Formats: sequence, structure tokens, C-alpha cells
Amino acid sequence: MSNGHSSGIGYVGQSSAPDQLNIIPRQMNFKHVKGKPKHWHHGDPLMTHLLTSASFFFPEGERFFIRSVRHYQNEITDPKLSKEILGFIAQEGIHGNEHEEYNEDVIEQGYTFLKPWKRIIKGLFKVVDRVTSREFQLGMTVSLEHVTALLAGSLLKHPEALLKGCDPKYREIWLWHAVEETEHKSVAFDTYEAIGGRFWIRSVSMVVSNLIFLPTVLIMLVQFLRRDGCLSQQLFRDAMEYHQDNGEVFIEMWTEYKSFFRKDFSPWNNLNQGLVDDWKDSNQTKYSMIEG
Ligand SMILES: [Fe+2]
Ligand SMILES: [Fe+2]
Repeated sequence: MSNGHSSGIGYVGQSSAPDQLNIIPRQMNFKHVKGKPKHWHHGDPLMTHLLTSASFFFPEGERFFIRSVRHYQNEITDPKLSKEILGFIAQEGIHGNEHEEYNEDVIEQGYTFLKPWKRIIKGLFKVVDRVTSREFQLGMTVSLEHVTALLAGSLLKHPEALLKGCDPKYREIWLWHAVEETEHKSVAFDTYEAIGGRFWIRSVSMVVSNLIFLPTVLIMLVQFLRRDGCLSQQLFRDAMEYHQDNGEVFIEMWTEYKSFFRKDFSPWNNLNQGLVDDWKDSNQTKYSMIEG
């Protein structure tokens, strides 16, 4: 396991990922899908726009993740972790591009209030780049990767609970992203451990990440709902009804979120690689694989 020890030529910390795990980027080509519905999540504006607001965060967020890992990439000495870093960078690069196409589609649907958000989110990450240390930036990546990995794991484990009634193409893009987030979920963490990243820094960086991510997504969500003229109590009653049987799913997610604040946290404490294998069995051949 990693210990932050530098050998003089680099950091000797190692990958914690299962041996059989292979991080392979897949091309999605979401932009070529025609006739995408406006409220693709079971006709519901709230769930649709909540996920789309998160999608607006992704392109710049994922570029930030790549930058923060690249700072240390050349000093990692474990060949397995080095290879995983390449896979991580390739996957996140494709995610950023696919979600940019996804977001452009949404703007073209008439949600022009979103245009300044691209600049605002880019600006937020620029400020982080400027005012925080490289260790803190990597800590933020580890934090946001934990949040995406736990959401991804839940989508893969409970698709019928969380994506019931979804338009098939949107279901496909979210599950594709979920699979790759699960595959590379330990890469930033292992890099952070390898460089001797401190526990308290990653804990604080989780709080700061949440303070950036949550208000951004919530403000966008309210703007979406106001633009659709449907910001009402009924919308929230409908959401409660949709999720009435999902209590255990949300408790499971909250428990996994909190585990991040333990010193013995490791992404593969939740050994859910089987969910990726299940998805691969039925979907792998649909995508062009980019093997390095
Ligand atoms: Fe991603
Ligand atoms: Fe990721």
C-alpha cells in the first residue's frame, strides 16, 4: 500500500485497484443521437434538470481533475498506477467532451441562461488553481471522485430505482459514465496517498468541494425550473412519490459518503467491480474502445 515515501526519483506508493481491473476509455458519440426529449427523466423536470445541472459542472471539473493528477504523474513509480493514470486521463478527457456536447444540446433547446455558466464554472476552478496548493487540488479531485463514484455505484446497482422511466439514450450515457467512474475510482486517491497527501487536507477539501459544487448545481436547477415555469410544491411532491421506495438507496449513499472522513477510507472498500463486469457483458460491444 502507499505511504507517501519518495525514493528520490519518485513516489513509491502503489495502486489499490483490483488486479483484473482495466481502465479502458470508450467513445460515446452522444451528439449524433437525434430527437432527444426535453424532460428525459420520466418526463420530470426536477430529476432531468438536477442531473443536467451536474452535467454542466463536468467538463471543467473533469479538466481540473486531469490537471491535478498530471502535477504528479511523472513522479509515480508504480507501473500499474502509472498505467491507471493514463486510463483516468483518457476517460475524463472523453467525459468532458461528451458532456460538453450534451450541454450544448440543452442550450439549443432554449435554455440560453446556461451560456454564462460555462465561464463561471471555468472561473471557479481557475480561482482554485490560483489560491490552493497542488496537494489541496488533488485532495479536491479525490473528494469529487468519491462523490461521483458513490453516485455512479448507486446508478449501476439500482438503475430501476434511480433511472426508472428514463429515455433510453440518456440512461445509456449516464450508465456509461457511471461504469468508467467506477473503473477509475481509486486513481486520484492512490496518487494522493502516494505523494503523502494528508488526511486533514483531503477532509477539508471535501467540504470546500461541496461548497463549490452544491450551490452551483442548486442555483442552476432553480433557474431551469423557473425557465420551465414549473417551480412548485407539486414538483417536489412528485419527486417524493417517485422516490418513495428509495429510502434504503439514499441511506446507503450517505453511509458511503461519510466513510470518506475515516482514516482507513479506500475507494475499493466498496468492492463493486462486479457491477462494471455485469454492464460490460451486455454493453461492451456497443462502444469503440481506445486501447493505449
Ligand atoms: Fe468523469
Ligand atoms: Fe472520474
